[in-house]
Amino acid sequence: MSSDLQAKDRQYLWHPYTQMHDYATRELPCIDRAEGLFLYDRSGKPYYDTISSWWCIVHGHNHPTIMGAIRDQLARLDQVLLAGITHEPAILLAEQLVQRTPPALSKVFYSDNGSTACEIAVKLSVQYWRQNGRPERTKMVGLTRGYHGDTIGTMSLGGVPEFHQAFSGMLFDSYRLPSPYCYRCPDGREQATCNCECLAAYETLLAEHGREIAALIIEPLIQAAGGMIIYPAKYLARIAAMTRARGVHLILDEVATGFGRTGTFFALEQAGVSPDFLCLSKGLTGGVLPMAATLTTDEIYQGFYGEYSAGKTFFHGHTFTGNPLAAAAALGSLRVFAEGETMAGLPAKIEHLRQRLARFADLPWVGEVRQLGLIAALELVKEKAGKVPFAPEERVGWPIYLKGLEEGLLLRPLGNVVYLWLPLSVTMAAIDEISERMWRILADPTNIAGMGR
Ligand SMILES: Cc1ncc(COP(=O)(O)O)c(C=O)c1O
Repeated sequence: MSSDLQAKDRQYLWHPYTQMHDYATRELPCIDRAEGLFLYDRSGKPYYDTISSWWCIVHGHNHPTIMGAIRDQLARLDQVLLAGITHEPAILLAEQLVQRTPPALSKVFYSDNGSTACEIAVKLSVQYWRQNGRPERTKMVGLTRGYHGDTIGTMSLGGVPEFHQAFSGMLFDSYRLPSPYCYRCPDGREQATCNCECLAAYETLLAEHGREIAALIIEPLIQAAGGMIIYPAKYLARIAAMTRARGVHLILDEVATGFGRTGTFFALEQAGVSPDFLCLSKGLTGGVLPMAATLTTDEIYQGFYGEYSAGKTFFHGHTFTGNPLAAAAALGSLRVFAEGETMAGLPAKIEHLRQRLARFADLPWVGEVRQLGLIAALELVKEKAGKVPFAPEERVGWPIYLKGLEEGLLLRPLGNVVYLWLPLSVTMAAIDEISERMWRILADPTNIAGMGR
């Protein structure tokens, strides 16, 4: 970056999830353009976008179909409110989302980021119960190590102390279930043979407080921000069935997992579950413009439908709800899925990734290699036999991030977990190249906190 821009960055910008002190004497990579799998800095150096720019890019950067859809839309209608107004891209996108999701989901409520998609589900659930004869159903259930966003409401449902603890005094009261963190199973069971014994806590909670619970919110198959904790489909199927059996709403937060990343179009397909609310964002527009959608059922919709005087209106909306440019981008992304071989090509890529990851398990500081579709996670440990974690102060991810930049990889380890969140357009050759560069970083003890010194 030119020293002028760098100085202005330091003077004016406060970056998200960033300790700015880290960059007091170090330059932030300044990305100038992006194409396909690569980000390019101002000197022209390419970096593999191995985390899909915070898990959203689906078909690679600058995809011509999506760019064309946005340009066409820009020439017609840039922005208009969606309250009491409608427009073609919002309508057509809603139709396609309903067609692509489980049959029970029939209505789409738009917003503009993943946190609000989840907040909307929570508010719809609570208001539904209030005006449909069960006003005592106000409590929510979330999971330890769950993450649904950074707003006050979604933090109240999350379970990542690193992010949420500072605000504990102001968050609303909700229940937490244990994380299905199989690598660190408190019952000492193996994923393949367990019977989801960890769900006993939910059974107890439902028995004791089920009548006051409005909804359970869960990230299907992977607790992403909580540490890339991948759990079995049988757990999701079981927790969904338990939720349903008690008449509690099920909110599936597919903000991160939606649109192919896990190997199926939606992660819920792998467990055969259908929620009352489905939250989508990130990959919805192919990851290029902010947009979110909360899908729900006709039963919920009817619970709000009636004469205005009945007081059942859902008073919620955001300025950019259903923004036409974002909706056009989403339609463009869905067209890429419909016209190409994106989903059909995934199994071979996923298998190739699995093979390339296998050798990492032999490294003495890799406790577990996890994979779900094109998401891969390596949990680093200080001592393998005892699964001893690195302490947060050791910041094991930091040198790996820095080495990644040198190697032309944008890696952003989450605590002790180094992960890949690859675009669906990744090629076999790119998987080889990314895993080889990652191997060079992770196999070198001098890059692992305390190991090579
Ligand atoms: C599962 C999940 N839900 C919600 C969110 C929040 O989305 P946003 O950052 O767009 O508010 C995220 C973001 O990482 C997420 O992973």
